[in-house]
Amino acid sequence: MKVWRIGLIGFGNVGQGFVKLLHRKRVFLERRYGFKFKLVAISDPVRGNAYSDDGLDLRRIIELVDSKGGIKEYGGYVDFDSIELARNFDLDIVVEVTPTNVKNGEPGLTHIRVALDSGKHVVTSNKGPIALAFWELMELANRHGVYLKYEGTVMSGTPALDLGFSGLAGCEVTEVLGILNGTTNYILSRMEDGMSYEEALREAQRRGYAEADPTMDVDGWDAAIKAVIIANTLMGGRIRLTDVKRQGISGISSVDIENALEEGARIKLIAHIVRRGERDFLVEVKPMKLPLSDPLANVMGVMNAITFVTDSLGSVTLVGPGAGRIETGQALLMDILHIHKYVTLE
Ligand code: HSE
Repeated sequence: MKVWRIGLIGFGNVGQGFVKLLHRKRVFLERRYGFKFKLVAISDPVRGNAYSDDGLDLRRIIELVDSKGGIKEYGGYVDFDSIELARNFDLDIVVEVTPTNVKNGEPGLTHIRVALDSGKHVVTSNKGPIALAFWELMELANRHGVYLKYEGTVMSGTPALDLGFSGLAGCEVTEVLGILNGTTNYILSRMEDGMSYEEALREAQRRGYAEADPTMDVDGWDAAIKAVIIANTLMGGRIRLTDVKRQGISGISSVDIENALEEGARIKLIAHIVRRGERDFLVEVKPMKLPLSDPLANVMGVMNAITFVTDSLGSVTLVGPGAGRIETGQALLMDILHIHKYVTLE
C-alpha cells in the first residue's frame, strides 16, 4: 500500500489545524480510504522547521506548538528552507498554507511553482496564488502530470468548489451568489442585534475571523478574491481582481438594517457572478437587500453560503463554515484524499 509523503509549508492556524486532523484521523483514514501517510517535513520561518524521513511524531509536534507556540525544540535536521522543501525533498504532496498575499501572491506563489515544477502534487488554501495565477499554475501542473487542488480557498472545508466541479457536473452554471466572507456577515448579524459596527468588527477580530488587515474583509477584498477564484476555476473565466466591481459594508448603518427588516429583507454582502457570454462575466461584490424568503438572507453570523443558479436544477444552495483552523484543515484533507483516489484509480 502506498504511503503518501507529505511536506507542509506554513505552520500557522491552518497548518496546525491540518496536522491535528491528520493525527486524530490516522486510523480512520487508513481503514476507510486505504490512505497511509507520513508527514515528512514542516517549514515555517517563525515557528520553526522539522524533518524526519520516517515521518514526524505528530503528537510531539502538536504538544510543542500548543505549549511553546513553535516546533524549534523538536530537534533533528532543521537546516533547510521552504524552497528547498518544495524543490528537493522526496515528497508526493506539498501542502502550502502560508498567509494570503493578494498583491503578488508571495511567498506562496513561488512555493507552488517550485513544487509543481519538481513533479509534486500541491494542495493549498492560499487565496493569493490561485486568484492571481490560476491558469499559469494549472498549465504547470498539467505539464508535469500532477494535481493542484485548492478547495480551502473558498468557504474553507465546506465543499463549495467540489459541489461546483463534481456535484453539479453537467449543469451549466449561469450565475453564482455567495456570502463568502464570515467577518462581514458576522458584523451585519450583530448590528441587527443592536451592536455598533465598530464593536462588531472588534468582536470579529477577537474571535479570529478577520484578516490581519480587516479592511480586506469590510471593503470586500476577501469576497472579491473568492469570486475571482470561483469565476476562473469553476466557470472558465479569465478574471483579474481589478475587474471586480467592489463595494464593502462600511456605508451600512443600523438604520439601513432595520429598514430592510421592516420591508421583510436583510442586507448581505454578496459576491455575484453572472455569465454574460462564453468568456464574458460580470463579477461584483456589494451589499444587496435580499428578501427573507431567499436562503442566503437567513445565513447568520460567521457562516458562509453559496447559491449556484443552473440550467438543469434551478438554484442549489450550500451553507457551512467559511473559516477556521480545523475547517480549513478539512479542505486540505479532502483535496489530499481526492488525489489519493485519482492516483489509485490511474
Ligand atoms: N477573513 C476571512 C473571512 C477568513 O472572514 O471569511 C476566511 O477566508
